[in-house]
Amino acid sequence: MPSLNEALQEFTAVIVTGGSSGIGKSFIERCGEWNANLTVCNLSRRTPDLFYGKLKLRHFPCDLAQSSSLASVVQEVEAFLQREAPQGRVLLLNNSGFGAYGYFPEPNVAHLTEMVDVNVRAVVELTGRLMPLLKARGGAIVNIASTAAFQPTAFMATYGATKAFVLHWSLALNEELRGSNVRALAVCPGPTATEFFRRAGLEKGSVADALSMSCEAVIDATLRALAGKRSLVVPGWKNQVSAAVGSMAPKRLAAWVAAKVLARFRLKKVAR
Ligand SMILES: NC(=O)c1ccc[n+]([C@@H]2O[C@H](COP(=O)([O-])OP(=O)(O)OC[C@H]3O[C@@H](n4cnc5c(N)ncnc54)[C@H](OP(=O)(O)O)[C@@H]3O)[C@@H](O)[C@H]2O)c1
Repeated sequence: MPSLNEALQEFTAVIVTGGSSGIGKSFIERCGEWNANLTVCNLSRRTPDLFYGKLKLRHFPCDLAQSSSLASVVQEVEAFLQREAPQGRVLLLNNSGFGAYGYFPEPNVAHLTEMVDVNVRAVVELTGRLMPLLKARGGAIVNIASTAAFQPTAFMATYGATKAFVLHWSLALNEELRGSNVRALAVCPGPTATEFFRRAGLEKGSVADALSMSCEAVIDATLRALAGKRSLVVPGWKNQVSAAVGSMAPKRLAAWVAAKVLARFRLKKVAR
């Protein structure tokens, strides 16, 4: 099995979205631990607060729901990398994203279309705008999907569909990239202890941390998969079982079962 510290050695620069909390923040922390020479660019609205001084981190304030904001920030990132880390392979981590629970179109249509913008459109646009750089220097694209990608997810219908997009898009992109010096990896975490559930509208403490994976465990599984040049990883055996069941069951049956589970364990816990 590839070791963790192998994964980041091949890169000189990392571009990450959503490094201000949760999985993205853990990823930047791991960058500092395993390869302090990395130049890291973070794109999110909030500034990551922990890392200055520990590694070469530059924060680019960016609302990924705004296409105009993304276009200009990509130019700034490219100019920054040209100055600070002009050579070597580049890792792009498309991590920013959010969910929402409730009956469609709760909480409201604008929130759901913003979700599609951040979880889907921004992933396609950022990757597309950076593809010339990635191909010129070589690199990898890591896309954070979810176990929600493997079956229709009632009561979070839009979120699950955005993650199904990310999973299928990432796997297809990896096939297109065969023979190039860029590869793509789709990561499908299950419940992970972050701000995700509170921001998705659940009451505080609805998803016990004890039943969730830690961000560090998700990132370590991601880095092992990256070092192993895999195209898909589902961190954790419980999530692997759920993903296998969700993808092998007939779609209508999977939708029915998921609706029962999500109604019982999530919908009842939506903060009113
Ligand atoms: N936690 C889970 O159980 C779980 C499970 C499966 C998949 N995931 C996925 O993992 C990824 C990371 O989520 P997390 O669990 O770490 O949740 P989190 O702690 O809420 O972090 C979400 C990140 O996304 C960024 N983001 C949200 N909207 C943005 C916008 N408009 N522009 C730029 N950045 C934005 C946030 O940054 P700002 O607010 O600073 O902009 C934040 O850094 C998401 O794609 C999520 O769907 C999470």
